[in-house]
Amino acid sequence: MTGERWFFRAAWRPQAAIGGTIGAVPDIIPPSDALIRARGLTKRFGSFTAVDGVDFDVAPGEAFGFLGPNGAGKTSTMRMIGTVSPVSAGTLTVFGLDTARHGAQIRARLGVVPQADTLDNELSVLENLLIYGRYFGLPWSESRRRATELLDFVQLTERAGDRVEPLSGGMKRRLVIARALINEPSLLLLDEPTTGLDPQARHLLWDRLYRLKQRGVTLCITTHYMDEAEQLCDRLVVMDKAKIVAEGSPRQLIEQYVTREVLELRFNRGEGETDDSGQLDGQLDGLADRTEQLPDRLLVYTADGEATAAAAFERGLRPTSVLVRRSSLEDVFLRLTGRSLVE
Ligand SMILES: Nc1ncnc2c1ncn2[C@@H]1O[C@H](COP(=O)(O)OP(=O)(O)OP(=O)(O)O)[C@@H](O)[C@H]1O
Ligand SMILES: [Mg+2]
Repeated sequence: MTGERWFFRAAWRPQAAIGGTIGAVPDIIPPSDALIRARGLTKRFGSFTAVDGVDFDVAPGEAFGFLGPNGAGKTSTMRMIGTVSPVSAGTLTVFGLDTARHGAQIRARLGVVPQADTLDNELSVLENLLIYGRYFGLPWSESRRRATELLDFVQLTERAGDRVEPLSGGMKRRLVIARALINEPSLLLLDEPTTGLDPQARHLLWDRLYRLKQRGVTLCITTHYMDEAEQLCDRLVVMDKAKIVAEGSPRQLIEQYVTREVLELRFNRGEGETDDSGQLDGQLDGLADRTEQLPDRLLVYTADGEATAAAAFERGLRPTSVLVRRSSLEDVFLRLTGRSLVE
């Protein structure tokens, strides 16, 4: 299959570049083999600080996520990595190169999927890819070869000659990903890759991203969907109000900040409100690690939801509905910030 070839080439590029081909560039940071390294990274817009002194490393080949609510600073961070927005303070290297001084070199090896689609609606699907090949100075025949492979990869071959405008949201997103891959990048930046898509379109896109990762492409993803972060990311940072509030794999974060299971209890209005009514005072003592009162339900964090539900019943609690589920990154976010991830 022709589509496989360049992915393997892309796979060894990060290491080769750091150790070899650009070895003469003076601002390589030798002890780190991180593909992206940020230290005290800060973005200010006038007196407003959108990214406030964050540190993170992205390793070659990993899928790294920035999870956080609207306005957390995810896009601002991505735009600095993409070298289209200057760093206000701190240091940021991509491929071992300082973003302040080597923007063009970095951009040549990056693929970028911006938060808003920036496709040319006047052009056909294929032409949108070819024009990008031109930006990267590819010979026409090479552009065409890559575009054909990429349309196959994102399952848009049949739409090659169609105009972009009537495509579905999921198709457009896949086309933007294909476009971002035209320069055979070893690092792909994806800003909210599936926002606004239906579940089926999201799953298809996740599948393509997973395949890219398997082929050695490093993925850097922002999302405010916890399930997306859990599905795609090996490691992630949780961002809130310009800062990183936690870092780890999805599993590590869940283990560190919440219990294995959550018991969700709903009560008739008035009952079950831990703070005002006080009706639950003491009734869950010793049964739960922690409780969290949401407007419509009570979350009870516990290792064994079923057992806790049974024990609560024994103590006379009569919720109108009982749900036991595994803890998620949403629970981690709630624990860390006291707020829900999706407002
Ligand atoms: N060009 C700009 N000028 C002034 N303020 C900005 C600019 N770009 C972003 N901001 C502000 O910086 C903060 C972080 O924005 P950013 O777009 O990075 O957040 P985000 O995490 O990507 O949010 P979303 O999930 O909504 O995309 C927001 O308060 C935003 O209003
Ligand atoms: Mg954003």
